[in-house]
Amino acid sequence: MNLNLVCIPGDGIGPEIVAQAKKVLDKVASVYGHEINYTDILMGGASIDVHGIPLTDEAIATAKAADAVLMGSIGGDTNTSPWYQLPPEKRPEAGLLKIRKALNLFANLRPAVLYDELSGACPLKEEISKAGFDMMIMRELTGGLYFGERKTTTENGVRKAVDTLSYDENEIRRIAIKGFDIARKRRGKVTSVDKANVLDSSRLWRAVVNEVAKDYPDVTLEHMLVDNCAMQLVKDPAQFDVILTENMFGDILSDEASMVTGSIGMLASASLNDTKFGLYEPSHGSAPDIAGKDLANPIATILSASMMLRYTFDLDKEADAIDAAVQQVLKDNYRTGDIFSEGCEKVGCNQMGDLIVERIC
Ligand code: IPM
Ligand code: MG
Repeated sequence: MNLNLVCIPGDGIGPEIVAQAKKVLDKVASVYGHEINYTDILMGGASIDVHGIPLTDEAIATAKAADAVLMGSIGGDTNTSPWYQLPPEKRPEAGLLKIRKALNLFANLRPAVLYDELSGACPLKEEISKAGFDMMIMRELTGGLYFGERKTTTENGVRKAVDTLSYDENEIRRIAIKGFDIARKRRGKVTSVDKANVLDSSRLWRAVVNEVAKDYPDVTLEHMLVDNCAMQLVKDPAQFDVILTENMFGDILSDEASMVTGSIGMLASASLNDTKFGLYEPSHGSAPDIAGKDLANPIATILSASMMLRYTFDLDKEADAIDAAVQQVLKDNYRTGDIFSEGCEKVGCNQMGDLIVERIC
């Protein structure tokens, strides 16, 4: 197969981790007989430094023309980087929001898995973590507060700011369908998370999710309020299979879920539209404090590449080969600093990439 990929190395540790994912993809391509073409585009701070804006129209057009996009991370230290002296719409994160909207990437899949080998890193009590957990957060990504009307004004000398949380039923329906479809391929349970005791947008969310559920009698649906969900994630994470939620709640809950695994450096993500196209990126940020030091954990990006093979290209065997190689490297006790524990061998970003490449078969 011919795979046309756009890569966004981005900022901070982005270039290092994307380089490792490319190495792994190249090995997969040679073992399984595929041809991969890569085109890099600039986004975030890297684009600001060259073009003065975080994402150009040319870069969007290049991404649109590809089969899929593999991204590292964007952004810098918000306290010290000059990027954060710019107006909000010119900062690195604006590039990410712009590409999500421009490519209609409304479905964001964020798996949070407790790896056996890393269960020691889980911050929960052993009596909770021993049940293990493997959940998929399905976050709506192109609506809600992130894209609603916003403004900052001064009225009678008093500063005022407004953000708008708005959803229409079509936006809710299409993400709900994705959530139920994925639950069907997993353990058949959807927990839809909202704040229906307060918000109109949540009451509509709940009504539409109930309508969609009628087409999935084989999937169990429950509704949970977002504050309760935040609590349940640390109390009993094993109860969750698919968590289906709107943009802002999903942003917050996915960070919580990833922290609960103890290994945010391991977690991949996929942002999909209604075709096979997707943007794949690690769930973690750009970690400017360790950038360029060969300390980053490339596994989340490598697993994002695996999600890309699975969801965009239907190359399940190849994706399985990557997942198995990652599992094996952990079994063989190699760890980057973020997941290191006594008795393991500490390796850098580049070596971790090489060790995974060696285990692809
Ligand atoms: C994420 C990030 C982004 C978001 C930021 C960088 C705009 O936190 O992907 O979760 O809030 O969506
Ligand atoms: Mg976030």
